[in-house]
Amino acid sequence: MNRIQQETDLPERVKIVEVGPRDGLQNESATVPLEVKVGLIERLGAAGLPAIETGSFVSPKWVPQMADSDRVYGAIRKRAGVGYPVLVPNSRGLAGALKAGVQEVAVFAAASESFTRKNINSTIDESLERYRSVVAEALDSGLRVRGYVSCVLGCPYEGAITPDAVARVAGQLDSMGCYEISLGDTIGAGTPRDARDMIRVVSERIPVQRLAAHFHDTYGQGLANVLAVLQEGVSVVDGSVSGLGGCPYAKGATGNLATEDLLYMLDGMGIKTGVDMGRLLDAGRFICEHLGRRPVSRVGQARWVRKD
Ligand code: HMG
Ligand code: MG
Repeated sequence: MNRIQQETDLPERVKIVEVGPRDGLQNESATVPLEVKVGLIERLGAAGLPAIETGSFVSPKWVPQMADSDRVYGAIRKRAGVGYPVLVPNSRGLAGALKAGVQEVAVFAAASESFTRKNINSTIDESLERYRSVVAEALDSGLRVRGYVSCVLGCPYEGAITPDAVARVAGQLDSMGCYEISLGDTIGAGTPRDARDMIRVVSERIPVQRLAAHFHDTYGQGLANVLAVLQEGVSVVDGSVSGLGGCPYAKGATGNLATEDLLYMLDGMGIKTGVDMGRLLDAGRFICEHLGRRPVSRVGQARWVRKD
């Protein structure tokens, strides 16, 4: 353990969950071809990411970009030891995921009533009731289930959200049997002290080892927020390659914290991840070239100009 880790009690190892192929692409209006999605996921696997969210089994009327998630899942060469979760909003989604042979699903709730209505067309309590049976069936079928709580540091429709509201929803997902709860700052508006306080309240109900952080980077607070929650004991962090994405039901919110920037910070601090920067940058270049876009990640931009 080096000096900075001892001083601030940082974890020695962080698990990065790559959400780019799902959270990153779900907001793209032009259809991304199946082979590009598969190419992206395989490059991310080659970079050493231990978990890669490959898609979602949601209504194609709501999120058309994810309509081919079953075929994407079927086409990727799965690497041993890598998790390939998909999102499911209901039993129909779970049935599709099971048919596709998926081994891990994620259910997604929110701490805001308005966002829940816009995103999954129900109240918070209705969504939790539905998830209780979806999670039970998924566990019975031998799947691992991750839970998400959105709007943990603010809602695009309601503004401030209390840590207690987050803890209530997170606690319910935990009681259903989710192995981990990913806490999403959907609109990327939170700042480090709020992130820290929210984690402190939620970890009174759920051991911090079972919490993950999912920061969108709309206001440039992502890395600072990550550092704040690492200091609270969080050791699982979601990222999106090249900072792609956003939620179609959170207008104005940009992509997740870029995985490249997250990795740069963790590498620099001597925190192990098992992820290779060069290969991660390859994956980012691949998808950005397809989308005709320069990377949003700062590391990607620095390396893009220098072409190394
Ligand atoms: P609804 O319209 O209330 O549901 O949508 P419904 O049961 O009335 O069904 C409507 C139509 O969709 C029907 O088709 C269903 O069959 C079909 P029709 O009869 O009209 O032809 N349908 C489905 N089709 C395929 N797969 C399914 C499915 N379910 C119904 N699973 C529903 C309710 C939940 C389905 C809808 O609101 C939905 O799909 N929402 C998903 C929204 C979404 O994916 N948002 C982005 C992910 S969340 C996120 O990004 C946040 C996160 O990153 C964390 C953070 O950043 O905070 C996770
Ligand atoms: Mg998200």
